[in-house]
Amino acid sequence: MLRPEFVPYDLELLNPDFGSPLTDLIIDLDYLRRKKLEGSTHPKVFFQLKDIFHLLESLGSARIEGNNTTLAEYIDSKVSNEISKSEKIQEILNLEEAMEFIEENVTKCPIDRAFISELHKLVVKGLTSPPSGEGDPTPGRYRSVNLEITQSLHRPPEHILVEGYMDELFRFIKNEESSKYDLIKTAISHHRFVWIHPFRNGNGRTVRLLTYAMLVKQGFNLKIGRIVNPTAIFCSDRDAYNNYLSKADKGNKDDIFNWCEYVLRGLKLEIEKIDRLCNYGYLKDEILLPAIKLIEKEEKISKTEANILIKTVSQQVIQAKDLKDLFRGKASSEISRQIKRMIEKKLLDNEEEGKRRYIINLQNSYLYRAIIHFLGEKGFLPVNDKL
Ligand SMILES: Nc1ncnc2c1ncn2[C@@H]1O[C@H](COP(=O)(O)OP(=O)(O)O)[C@@H](O)[C@H]1O
Ligand SMILES: [Mg+2]
Repeated sequence: MLRPEFVPYDLELLNPDFGSPLTDLIIDLDYLRRKKLEGSTHPKVFFQLKDIFHLLESLGSARIEGNNTTLAEYIDSKVSNEISKSEKIQEILNLEEAMEFIEENVTKCPIDRAFISELHKLVVKGLTSPPSGEGDPTPGRYRSVNLEITQSLHRPPEHILVEGYMDELFRFIKNEESSKYDLIKTAISHHRFVWIHPFRNGNGRTVRLLTYAMLVKQGFNLKIGRIVNPTAIFCSDRDAYNNYLSKADKGNKDDIFNWCEYVLRGLKLEIEKIDRLCNYGYLKDEILLPAIKLIEKEEKISKTEANILIKTVSQQVIQAKDLKDLFRGKASSEISRQIKRMIEKKLLDNEEEGKRRYIINLQNSYLYRAIIHFLGEKGFLPVNDKL
């Protein structure tokens, strides 16, 4: 039987051939990075959607490591706001928190040891150490033991070499080359990180966050209204992900190129999908309106509530006067009462505190589930669960 072995290779940036598929992908992605999005979705609606995506991303990243929580279970636990969370739910919540940490900090601080240490602490927070749990006995600290990766023929470096390899990786990430190298660097860094396997556990979850952090830093960012859901590319097919990683373990140039191509192809598909969602016309017609009609059909909301929501979604923002034709012959106090009830049911939200302008609220648990259902139908879910 083959035994895992450690084969060192030099960390370096590679130049793909100009005619290679990898170069095409880099050019396409660079275009997506700079492209202005059409059909703007209201920022508050957009941020609610982003939360849904973060949830899906976190679930996917935990699932790839064997967490068997279903989408339905996770949503139930979130919607019900239980205080005591099971460990597997906690694991996913940790990933959501880590993504928030990235968004708040990555543009302000370097991706260095302290940053990765913070991410790792968030990833394993409150979880039992292996073999029984998905935590780590030394959160935020490099491992002090040698280990193997399950089902892999690569043996990560001796623990005393970890710090040196990680310092080299941080220098590699920090080095300022032309931005045309950004994406290739992101893919190479992902592989190198798990090749080093700096932590006792949680390396996979942490590296997928590292990739997210690098992309946000490179300008695939949220300010211009784009949600990046990079881990989906790794979560939809765990075998493919692990195979490409394994092949690249010896540092052979072609294998590293194939790994990069795999990552960038997935990334391009993801970003194109997300761009479609940021186009409000698409979001409205393919996701929001069908979701409203579904919960009306299931009698989770009344006909009047459905009509108000349809109006809201069509205009993005409504005021009481916009609802007059829906309430012919009724006093305007009736409209105000109806709006108030819908705010309480989390179907509507104030556009801004104190202003009498309203937008749709996706937090209503029926609406939330229906939206995820239609996102699934359109191929937006990284996990193949039906709700
Ligand atoms: N052949 C391989 N070479 C390098 N990394 C690998 C290989 N196979 C799997 N991995 C990485 O190792 C991760 C698992 O490591 P682990 O520390 O257990 O992370 P986690 O606890 O987050 O699951 C996988 O998600 C993957 O990123
Ligand atoms: Mg693990």
